[in-house]
Amino acid sequence: VDLRPYNTLGISVLADYFIEVSSLDGLSEAIEFSRRRRLRRVFIGGGSNLVLRGDIHGLVIRMAMRGISCESSGGERLVTVAAGENWDELVKYSLAQGWYGLENLISIPGQAGAAPIQNIGAYGVELANVLDSVTGWDINLNGLRTLTAADCQLAYRDSVFKGALRDVFIITAITLRLSAKPAPNLSYPALLEALAAQAPEQAPSPELIAATVAMVRADKLPDYRREPNVGSFFKNPIISKSLAHELVAQYPALPHWPMADGRFKVAAAWLVDQAGWKGRRRGAVGIHPRQAIVLVNYDGADGAEVLAFANAIQADVLARFNVDLEIEPRVY
Ligand code: EPU
Repeated sequence: VDLRPYNTLGISVLADYFIEVSSLDGLSEAIEFSRRRRLRRVFIGGGSNLVLRGDIHGLVIRMAMRGISCESSGGERLVTVAAGENWDELVKYSLAQGWYGLENLISIPGQAGAAPIQNIGAYGVELANVLDSVTGWDINLNGLRTLTAADCQLAYRDSVFKGALRDVFIITAITLRLSAKPAPNLSYPALLEALAAQAPEQAPSPELIAATVAMVRADKLPDYRREPNVGSFFKNPIISKSLAHELVAQYPALPHWPMADGRFKVAAAWLVDQAGWKGRRRGAVGIHPRQAIVLVNYDGADGAEVLAFANAIQADVLARFNVDLEIEPRVY
């Protein structure tokens, strides 16, 4: 099976076996099949955070289970969402139901089940702010298990699912703790600015926040259907206090944010932009002209070409700023 339709970077590679599972039985059968044949397993959701480096000699399992249910208690809404639900549709559905808390996370591509893996975050909110628990299939136990949000060890673009539980715990559903009462998060300066520009008098409703975030994103992030991409290709690096001081002294415009542990997060987009890569193309790949953190596959590049381009940017940023840029999507 050609995986091109299943990854938003539009990379064409072949998988020896491919199955879409829409139930737990289907999932356990697929895992059983891979055990009998001793096949490597690769689980995918929306394919919006993947770089496929080469053909997959094994079984690709696409998570497609659906369903959303809600338990109310007082003003709280505990919403359980199957892994295969589309994230953006979930955000819009929640808003329509009057379940608040996801509005800043509108327009993020991908499926709900993948959200905890990289702790998706945007415009001041991350999944960690609303996650209650995660249910999944434990390959070792050969059964279902539920983890609390704390067990998931969510951090900036990171979780236990990228570490100790990688390829072991297969997320089948997530439970979110939402609220019947709007509690707008306006902590992201660019969001506040965009809101102020449109509706200076109004206290922003969740609907207005969602509409504004959707607009800001549409303005800077390319649509993968036209310009195949995986969103941010690099994480915002977290650097030591001393390096941050050195860099900010030399480049006062460098956007930087203090972390709880004394280190600083700096803007990858700014570093890549400053190094002159924004809008630059090399062969079939390039950096988007409006967002320096987004790599676009303009013309059917393969994974090797994408990674060689990314490595050239990493080397340049390291040489200029002494900062290690980490690739954000998963590479298979
Ligand atoms: N900047 C530049 N040049 C650019 C783009 C941005 O200098 O070409 C500067 C901006 O001036 C700004 C700073 O970099 O001060 C940060 O830019 P922006 O607000 O656009 O966000 P980001 O740090 O590049 C992160 C997330 C995005 C998320 C936005 C909004 C990561 C890796 N990325 O991007 O998430 O949408 O913040 O919250 O943390 C994703 O993970 O795929 C993703 C799109």
